[in-house]
Amino acid sequence: MEIEGTVAAVAGGASGMARATAEELAARGAKIAILDLESSEGEKVAAELGNGAIFCPLDIRDSDSIARALDRTVQTFGALHIGVNTAGGGAAKRTLTREGPHPLDDFRKVVELNLIGSFDFLRLAADHMSRNEPNADGERGVVISTASIAAFEGQIGQVAYAAAKSGIVGMTFTAARDLGSLGIRVMAIAPSLFQTGITKNAPSQMVEALTKDAAFPRRMGRPEEYARMAIAIVENPMLNASTIRLDGGQRFAPR
Ligand SMILES: NC(=O)c1ccc[n+]([C@@H]2O[C@H](COP(=O)([O-])OP(=O)(O)OC[C@H]3O[C@@H](n4cnc5c(N)ncnc54)[C@H](O)[C@@H]3O)[C@@H](O)[C@H]2O)c1
Repeated sequence: MEIEGTVAAVAGGASGMARATAEELAARGAKIAILDLESSEGEKVAAELGNGAIFCPLDIRDSDSIARALDRTVQTFGALHIGVNTAGGGAAKRTLTREGPHPLDDFRKVVELNLIGSFDFLRLAADHMSRNEPNADGERGVVISTASIAAFEGQIGQVAYAAAKSGIVGMTFTAARDLGSLGIRVMAIAPSLFQTGITKNAPSQMVEALTKDAAFPRRMGRPEEYARMAIAIVENPMLNASTIRLDGGQRFAPR
């Protein structure tokens, strides 16, 4: 899909990988809606992007707020073609410890945030995209979710996070089949450790230990590398129904 003139809603866009993606999309002529928590820097980021970018507060765990943010995006810019979502995160807890089994509510919370939130964003974005006139290639839109390499080799203590992220992998393939007849593509990116949020200021010794299993490069990924992958996905219509590992060949060890 040619990016110039499209409209993109970027959830988690106030920071990190999604922010870098919003910047790359804007540089290529897309109209941007930054979707993020009310408490985030979304307003400031949208102002810095210029080109009429807007901030629509949402909590990815709250379906009504996603619907409101996407409705406002379409009311402001007239359509929605690109959806990118990185809102997510995890909590470290093992399946069983001396204190007892993994609290079910904690597991549920991680699944709510990462998996249910991603599906909710996907289904509501696809609904808007289905109303677009298809482009010359028959495309109406593309949605990119964010998994993690923990979806494939979750570390000790990542059981809820790994379950939620591998749910995103499964959802991506099947949703692409569901939406194929509408010309809407569905993809996911599975990053290794990236230099964002809490990992941004990690001491070099810690980074070395955390990336020692990578083939090359043995360092954290950079937000702009996620953004470049997202741009490639949007631009290349043959990329569909896959989760792409973005990891320098890293495979997480058990711990
Ligand atoms: N950074 C890594 O090492 C890494 C590796 C693999 C996967 N991921 C995934 O990437 C995503 C995090 O992105 P990042 O690394 O760019 O981090 P980040 O902290 O820089 O950005 C995350 C953004 O999401 C927003 N957010 C958090 N909870 C939200 C919610 N409930 N509703 C709406 N917005 C919310 C935050 O305000 C923030 O702006 C998560 O899904 C995480 O699982 C990160």
